[in-house]
Amino acid sequence: ETKPRIPVIWLHGLECTCCTESFIRSAHPLVADVLLSMISLDYDDTIMAAAGHQAEAILDETLKEHYGNYILAVEGNPPLAEDGVFCIPGGEPFVNKLKRMSAGASAVIAWGSCASWGCVQAAKPNPTQATPIHKVITDKPVIKVPGCPPIAEVMTGVVTYMLTFGTLPELDRQGRPKMFYSQRIHDKCYRRPHFDAGQFVEEWDDEGARKGYCLYKMGCKGPTTYNACSSVQWNEGVSWPVKSGHGCLGCSEEDFWDKGSFYSRL
Ligand code: SF4
Ligand code: SF4
Ligand code: F3S
Repeated sequence: ETKPRIPVIWLHGLECTCCTESFIRSAHPLVADVLLSMISLDYDDTIMAAAGHQAEAILDETLKEHYGNYILAVEGNPPLAEDGVFCIPGGEPFVNKLKRMSAGASAVIAWGSCASWGCVQAAKPNPTQATPIHKVITDKPVIKVPGCPPIAEVMTGVVTYMLTFGTLPELDRQGRPKMFYSQRIHDKCYRRPHFDAGQFVEEWDDEGARKGYCLYKMGCKGPTTYNACSSVQWNEGVSWPVKSGHGCLGCSEEDFWDKGSFYSRL
């Protein structure tokens, strides 16, 4: 209660805004507590009240007054083709804005699979040369929080950890926080006993589907996907893709669009 709230600059490159949509639904901690008591969200293209020059001035003010002491959170990625012309927020190529604001950041977070891996806009043939942010920001660690989108409580959990302990969470070799990304969906899936018993759904409306058998043969990517969906779940722990009857698409894995994750069956 006595600590000043840490400034956060949240930039948006090529993205769909659903990472923000996920974040604002966090229940534990409640997103209102994150925004009103933990961080000072000084800039966010999509949810701030300021607009135009007034909004862009906040970036210069942050660099001047909080250099080295703010968190840069990035949703989406920069397209590098043709000098970045495919994403020009505020009249400036996003790649320039990203480099300018990362220079003074104490930590950089890549929200979602767009910022972490490239996601749909980097899928082949990637016409705009959409590029994950760690390939542009190379002088400091980038905390990757992948998923399309990431789970709300995973996003606020990462922020809470950083503010509580004043350090980065322990990261795996790919830069993901181990506390949320060290296990596969398959490891904690409640349908796992059916996998082990060789009981699989063979068609979407067959007897196995009605009995809740394993979705592996319907293309579930749980065995190769690192994320917290099968433990933390979505919508305040109510459900998650496999629980709703659909296999995991592997949305938190690198290049999942090009790996045949969508509806490819065994
Ligand atoms: Fe949208 Fe997915 Fe990109 Fe997040 S990672 S901005 S949900 S496309
Ligand atoms: Fe693994 Fe998917 Fe089967 Fe669950 S439904 S046990 S994650 S293959
Ligand atoms: Fe994505 Fe698979 Fe979770 S598709 S939301 S990682 S269950």
